[in-house]
Amino acid sequence: MTVQDGASLEAQDLTRVYRRGSEEIRALDGVSLQIKHGEFVAFMGPSGSGKTTLVNLLGCLDNPSSGKLTLAGRNIFGNGKPLGERQLTRIRREIFGYIFQNFYLIPTLTVRENVALPLAFYRKPGVEGEVERLLGMLGMAHRMNHLPAQISGGEMQRVAIARALVNRPEILLADEPTGNLDTKRSGEIGEVLQDLNQNAGLTIIMVTHNPGLGRLAGRLIEMRDGRAYENQ
Ligand SMILES: Nc1ncnc2c1ncn2[C@@H]1O[C@H](COP(=O)(O)OP(=O)(O)OP(=O)(O)O)[C@@H](O)[C@H]1O
Ligand SMILES: [Mg+2]
Repeated sequence: MTVQDGASLEAQDLTRVYRRGSEEIRALDGVSLQIKHGEFVAFMGPSGSGKTTLVNLLGCLDNPSSGKLTLAGRNIFGNGKPLGERQLTRIRREIFGYIFQNFYLIPTLTVRENVALPLAFYRKPGVEGEVERLLGMLGMAHRMNHLPAQISGGEMQRVAIARALVNRPEILLADEPTGNLDTKRSGEIGEVLQDLNQNAGLTIIMVTHNPGLGRLAGRLIEMRDGRAYENQ
């Protein structure tokens, strides 16, 4: 499964309401936007404004309460029959790579094993040697046999990036990829992401509270109260 050149994610009037007992929280309030192949988009905005909710929907990790989402013209949500869980799983494995603020490395696996983990579930043809190549590219070649507890926070995030890239995704979803890192390490991760976007053509959808990181993206979208605002 691949997404063709120029293809895009298109959200139309996406709404997500969470229910907590009798309380309803309208976390996303009608967001429409298009993200083209090869773009680097940053979402910024206050805590609770709906950034994670939105990118989880764009990454096909959650279902909207209403609205539509298409990926390369293919219906994901809200156009008649919803995609089945098996098809969604395929899209998540084959199209997307995900990076989260808390890394989610497996503590009992080495750096190399953590990066190779997605290959146990799905292996894109031609990814032989990719684990070592990515760890080398990210400056982690000398840490391959370490456990997560034996490396720094910035290094853990590099491992998480390598793991997200091991199946050569077309779209990288990064929710506060440097949220747990100091300024210097954040800058380094920012450079890695910018390089992947500019030189490997990876589409990047990133959430960040860091204005410096936001500026690296070619496109900045501001979230407020569940809505998306953009200077055109
Ligand atoms: N699973 C959930 N159940 C109920 N409410 C939720 C859930 N997830 C998020 N919310 C609420 O939805 C709103 C948007 O949350 P979201 O996590 O999208 O914000 P965010 O912009 O990512 O914030 P932050 O910058 O703190 O990560 C918040 O009011 C939050 O409390
Ligand atoms: Mg969030």
